Order: sequence, then structure tokens, then C-alpha cells
Amino acid sequence: MLHVRNLKVDFEVDGRRIRILHGVDLDLEEGETLGLVGESGCGKSVTCSAILRILADNATVTGEVMYDGTDLLKLPASKMEEIRGKDITMIFQDPVVYMNPVKTIGNQITEVIHLHEKCSQAEADKKAIDLLTQVGIPHPETRLKYYPHQLSGGLCQRVMIAMALACKPKLLMADEPTTALDVTVQAQILDLLRGLNKKLGMATILVTHDLGVIAENVKRVMVMYAGVVVEEGPVDIIFKKPAHPYTEGLLNSLPKMDGQDGDLIPIEGSVPAPDKRPAGCCFGPRCKYMTDECLKGQPKLTTINGTHRCACFHPVHGTFGGQE
Ligand SMILES: Nc1ncnc2c1ncn2[C@@H]1O[C@H](COP(=O)(O)OP(=O)(O)OP(=O)(O)O)[C@@H](O)[C@H]1O
Ligand SMILES: [Mg+2]
Repeated sequence: MLHVRNLKVDFEVDGRRIRILHGVDLDLEEGETLGLVGESGCGKSVTCSAILRILADNATVTGEVMYDGTDLLKLPASKMEEIRGKDITMIFQDPVVYMNPVKTIGNQITEVIHLHEKCSQAEADKKAIDLLTQVGIPHPETRLKYYPHQLSGGLCQRVMIAMALACKPKLLMADEPTTALDVTVQAQILDLLRGLNKKLGMATILVTHDLGVIAENVKRVMVMYAGVVVEEGPVDIIFKKPAHPYTEGLLNSLPKMDGQDGDLIPIEGSVPAPDKRPAGCCFGPRCKYMTDECLKGQPKLTTINGTHRCACFHPVHGTFGGQE
């Protein structure tokens, strides 16, 4: 349903144009959940915002975002407005920031409903109650009268999900939906998203920097580093046999749950600033396997095996497929 090709995003900062996304490809089938993972600043949110065309005014976006056969980047703003919320919608890390503090929860949900379908206020209220029930909010009739500050972080995130579901989107982009929540509430929200995904057949892009969240919630993952997709494929394969040294590094820096002892090994160094990218492979300076070959250029994402793809001249597992 969604095929993104060669998505590039530049931001103009202080009169200089800085490239943030360097040609991202992304495919998503109907009903599928795709994980998007990577360290802070690697371009996960920019990717989602570029797809939904909600980037700041200093952005220039090129490439293709084919959704159901239409390139969203070429749509007039008014058509894009229709797709936003109705077909594709997004929930964010900090729900309270995206809510209006002086409007009740009920008003905010029914506003979204009215925006996308013709119905009376009574019908919209009923739909809002149904939605709050669907996302597991107890006493929905009472809660509709609450203001955002009267709800806990977990309940606010559930309300955001209810608002996102108000128009039965075909694709939900969840950008770090649980990062601001404590672990128990985090598990509840992820359970809820998984259940809704199954029940409504809604495709989901789950953005997180947490590999644990990926392991438990998605079958296919894309790993990003410095605005580049460095590895992509089935979670069960990538977690056992990561091909990209960056993915291997991320996995080695996690505590092991199998009872085996072993030191946590952090990845030395830090992500390069967008305007100070190294020559050659963007991960080169932090990579323990780096050779002269890695200075040749950014390796393209190529097939390791089946749907497992990696952008590295010297994959940890498998062999480089050659430039595509
Ligand atoms: N409007 C903007 N102007 C200039 N630079 C921007 C703008 N928006 C984002 N960036 C830069 O783009 C890069 C990628 O940011 P992005 O928010 O996509 O990271 P992320 O992977 O979502 O990180 P996090 O895990 O912290 O949410 C960062 O270096 C950020 O500073
Ligand atoms: Mg982000």
C-alpha cells in the first residue's frame, strides 16, 4: 500500500542546505506492522513527517511516496489534507503537547469526526464514546468531559490513539508512542496497538529507539543510521544474525535475557552531525570492521538473503550483494 522511493529531505538552516534523509526506500503492505529503529537524530521522525507532508517550512522533499498508486508528494495541499487523518494518521511521543489544553477530550475527538464525515453532534458523541471504549478507557461518558490535564500520560496516549482511529485510517504511524510512559503503561499501549492492528487490519509503522519494543511487537524492521536505512528484514533473522555492524552494535549494547553473562558493549563515538558527515560509509568512523574500501562511498542497500537487506561492504553475517 505504501512504497517510498529515494526519499530525500534537506533543511535550510542559516542560509545553508543540509541533507537529513539520504534516499530512504520503504515498503509496507496492507495490515502489516513495520518497525523503524535507530539512535536519536537518525531521521525516524523526519521520515514519517515527510510521508505525511507535515515537515517544517524549511524542508525540501524529493523522491516518491506512492500510496495506493498515488504519489503523495505531487498531490495538491487540499487533497493531502483529506488523506491526512482519513487514510494516514500519526500519533506522537508526547500526547499532551498535541492536545488543546482548553478543550475537553470529547470536543477534540468529535472535531476530528466532523472533519471527515457528515453526522449530527449526538452521533459524533456516540462515536467518541465507542472510540474511548475501544482504546480501553473506563467510564468513557464521564471522561469525555475531562480536559487533557485531568488525565494521566497513559490515558492521554489512549485518547490520542482514539483520535487517530476516529476516521478508521488505513495506515497509522506511531512515533515513539510509549517513550514518555512508564514500563507497565508502555506494555498496555503496545498491546492495545497490536490488538487494533489485528482487529481493524490497519497497517502500522512503529517508530522506536527501543529494540525490546521491536522484538515484541513487529515481524519486520528497518534500522536507520544518520539518515540512511542500513539494514532491513525479518526481526527473528536480524536479531539472531545482524548483517550491519551498527545493528550488531545496537544488539550488543542491550542486556541479554537468556541468563548468559556478558558485558554490555556500547558503540564507541556518536552519530555524526548532519553537516559533518564522514567520507564513505556514514557508520565508518564508529565501525570496528572498517577498511579502506569503506571510504569509497555509501554502500547501497542490497540483498543478503531473501528479504534481508543490508548496506555494508563487509556484513557481519552474509556477503555484500554488490551495488544495485
Ligand atoms: N525543521 C528542522 N530544521 C533543521 N533540522 C531539523 C529539522 N527537523 C529535524 N531536523 C534534524 O533532522 C535530524 C533527524 O531528526 P529526527 O527528529 O527525524 O530524528 P529521530 O530519529 O526521530 O530522533 P529521536 O529518536 O530523538 O526522535 C536531526 O538532526 C534533527 O536535528
Ligand atoms: Mg523522533
